[in-house]
Amino acid sequence: MTGQPTALQAIPGHIALIMDGNGRWAENRSLPKFKGHEAGMDAMIRVVRHASDIGVKHLTVYAFSTENWKRSVGEVAGIFDLLLIYVNRELEELHRNGVRVDILGDRTPFSKKVNAALDKTIQKTKDNDGLRFHIALNYGGRADILMAAKDFAMTFAEGHLEKSLKDFDERDFARYLYTDGTPDPDLLIRPGGEKRLSNFLLWQIAYAELVFSDVLWPDFGPEDLDLAIGEYGARKRRFGGRI
Ligand code: IPE
Ligand code: IPE
Ligand code: MG
Repeated sequence: MTGQPTALQAIPGHIALIMDGNGRWAENRSLPKFKGHEAGMDAMIRVVRHASDIGVKHLTVYAFSTENWKRSVGEVAGIFDLLLIYVNRELEELHRNGVRVDILGDRTPFSKKVNAALDKTIQKTKDNDGLRFHIALNYGGRADILMAAKDFAMTFAEGHLEKSLKDFDERDFARYLYTDGTPDPDLLIRPGGEKRLSNFLLWQIAYAELVFSDVLWPDFGPEDLDLAIGEYGARKRRFGGRI
């Protein structure tokens, strides 16, 4: 710890974002839900651009949860169609801006087309050294921890654990999570008015600062991100200590 951050230093290294409120945004305008998801994608692109401009190192967005399969087949298909369109359309600009994209979550149920577009994006941007843009897709915090536990159990059973069980610590376990290699989020923002985590990054946000906003995700812009960062900057993080 190096004392109080100045306003300039208070940019969180890792921001996690729950992109919620697309449906209500569309409903408020008597538009089909799909239009809300479309406007949500536009918001995502604006926010990624801004996060990259102000020097955020990691941005993790919750785009589709393991529970979102409960929605209608049409809505789910619409979300993935949009994702495909946006990933293909924005890839060049993301790449030009030095953004490196990766995906958190179980990609096995996705269509060949979706997985090919995601692979292309990951591959093309893999050497970029700007903003790390992590998209949580078919992601659930519990699924993440369970997958890590199974992976760990397998490694242990095969005798490949790199150290004794006695010395195996939280940091070692975290290497089995989807977020391996990424520092824990400093700030978690949930627009859309709900005050819950909806199974996002449960392990990783142990000490994140939480900011909730009533702005519906499609209306969320750079100024809302700045507001949330301002709120973060005014917080005193103690991590259980008495700093
Ligand atoms: C978030 O918006 C998008 C996804 C969960 C995929 P919602 O569709 O949940 O919007 P609301 O919460 O119904 O307004
Ligand atoms: C959280 O939003 C998931 C994403 C934004 C991808 P939901 O709309 O699914 O969350 P709940 O159902 O209100 O908890
Ligand atoms: Mg919602």
